[in-house]
Amino acid sequence: MSVRLLETIADTRSALEPARRQGQTIGLVPTMGALHAGHGRLIAEARQGTNLVVVSVFVNPVQFDREDDFTRYPRDLPRDLAFCEAAGVDVVFAPAVQEMYPAPQRTFVEVTRLTGHLCGRFRPGHFRGVATVVLKLLNIIQPHRAYFGEKDAQQLAVVRRMVRDLNLPVEIVPVPTVREPDGLAISSRNQHLNPQDRRAAAALYRALCVAQQRIASGATAPEDIRRDVLAALQPDPRLRVEYVEIVDPDQMQPVERITAPVRVALAVWIGSVRLIDNLLCEPPPRG
Ligand code: PAJ
Repeated sequence: MSVRLLETIADTRSALEPARRQGQTIGLVPTMGALHAGHGRLIAEARQGTNLVVVSVFVNPVQFDREDDFTRYPRDLPRDLAFCEAAGVDVVFAPAVQEMYPAPQRTFVEVTRLTGHLCGRFRPGHFRGVATVVLKLLNIIQPHRAYFGEKDAQQLAVVRRMVRDLNLPVEIVPVPTVREPDGLAISSRNQHLNPQDRRAAAALYRALCVAQQRIASGATAPEDIRRDVLAALQPDPRLRVEYVEIVDPDQMQPVERITAPVRVALAVWIGSVRLIDNLLCEPPPRG
């Protein structure tokens, strides 16, 4: 194998030092493992944009609001390593929880306002945990660029804002969502769906496409869009809608009228599986 597995912060820092000194650019793809084609797209972008690609694999306990979600999160490092090897990754940083949190964490990063809606409302402490671990990873790896998926649009907005507010010397690169042929956004959580639920899950993307079409043809009232999205989801009793919101893409705040591009975002429970998705929707050009 040519991919290098590193499990400690000290080893990782010294392994990256020579490349850094030679002026090579370092790309970081933070993940929680269970790697799939969505992560693969981030890795491919990092390969294109930087000289040395680091993938972090760390299931971060601090960002889970439900204990059962943390314990049942899929973990398979040998498989993830083989995935990274095939994708041309140079270094996999896979620390133990003890390595990342040797003592109880007393310092947290809180990105205010951006976390008041969408997932932030339903998963208390989640984005505080995400921002904190991402800052730790950025400090450990010190990449020139870090890659994040638009699938987790609120996470991407939070990380971008943290980088801006704290003057971090890194470029955050957004990567479009990778989908299954029926439109379902690829996620490690999809593997918990039984066959019927998996079929039902395709409704999320279909509902978002309804919103996109309505907005492209001039609808400006968010409540109309919301109603159409709910109508596209609700006939199926398997789907329990947690939220459907229409927000501005930077601040993640609900808009009163749709006069500029918006993100339509939703979270839906299917059985005990929670799925999220979103789509950037643009109003017709004014003229
Ligand atoms: P994880 O869910 O493993 O996702 C890692 C990265 O892959 C995130 O930036 C996510 O947006 C992106 N991603 C996941 N599915 C995708 C898809 N279908 N298409 C495109 N990108 C996709 O997000 C996390 O881990 C964690 O919160 C983390 C940032 C690593 C902090 O712990």
